[in-house]
Amino acid sequence: MQTIENIYKPILVEIIEVIQETADVKTFKLKFKDPEAQKSFSFKAGQFAEYSVFGVGECTFCIASSPTRMDVIECSFKVAGKVTSALDRLNVGDTMGLRGPYGNWFPIEEMKGKNVVFIAGGIGLAPVRCVIWNVLDLRKEFKDVTIIYGSRSVGDLVYKRELEEWAQMADVKTVVTVDPGGETPDWKGEVGFVPTIVEKVAPSGVDTVAIICGPPIMIKYTFPVLEKLGFTEDNMITTLENRMKCGLGKCGRCNVGNVYVCKDGPVFTHKQIKALPDEY
Ligand code: FES
Repeated sequence: MQTIENIYKPILVEIIEVIQETADVKTFKLKFKDPEAQKSFSFKAGQFAEYSVFGVGECTFCIASSPTRMDVIECSFKVAGKVTSALDRLNVGDTMGLRGPYGNWFPIEEMKGKNVVFIAGGIGLAPVRCVIWNVLDLRKEFKDVTIIYGSRSVGDLVYKRELEEWAQMADVKTVVTVDPGGETPDWKGEVGFVPTIVEKVAPSGVDTVAIICGPPIMIKYTFPVLEKLGFTEDNMITTLENRMKCGLGKCGRCNVGNVYVCKDGPVFTHKQIKALPDEY
């Protein structure tokens, strides 16, 4: 008899580490319960997954770890609703569900041989961090690497240990900023909104790909700065993880016009975003 595969069936994963990034953002390191499932799982930088808490529901966010490091899968989430609150109550050793990977990905292959500028705001560093580690693990294949990251305040910076690690790397330029008023007395980074700091750092747009993710207002004001620096519409790439529910093109929650973020994205060039209806 033919069996019908349940596309909504999650893979069981165990939480092996919990990192409290900020007051309301956590990172989980996850390991598959079944080693065979772990071996057969693969994804590309930029893809997302559905994470489930049994008896509560599912939520969608990117895979925050790099496909060059397949020993664990990492996800970071901000507590913002029923499912993320339930996730927040889970601990090391607990089992949760994961299904995916879904969606398209950042064009790592096409980026090889070019400069790469990463620009992120707030928890928008999660999908960007996946690409950062992917690029750094293949460092020789890329030219200059620049990371510009900002958050509202020092307390809101995520992946602090990695920001320090990137800052120590001689072949990576890392600039971290907080919004005016968000600095502490001992803060040594920049103070200013991300688009302003991008203007100040002024990476050349020649032969350079920019990977951008953060609050919509940050993205909106960063694009024109990059255009002035010579970035082309095809070389400014972002991810729109918002509004997704099923992740499979079935629920109709994520569409912008006739574009389905979950199936046509979540990764889009600036050129593609400009072609979307104004509602986005
Ligand atoms: S998330 Fe359901 S259709 Fe895209």
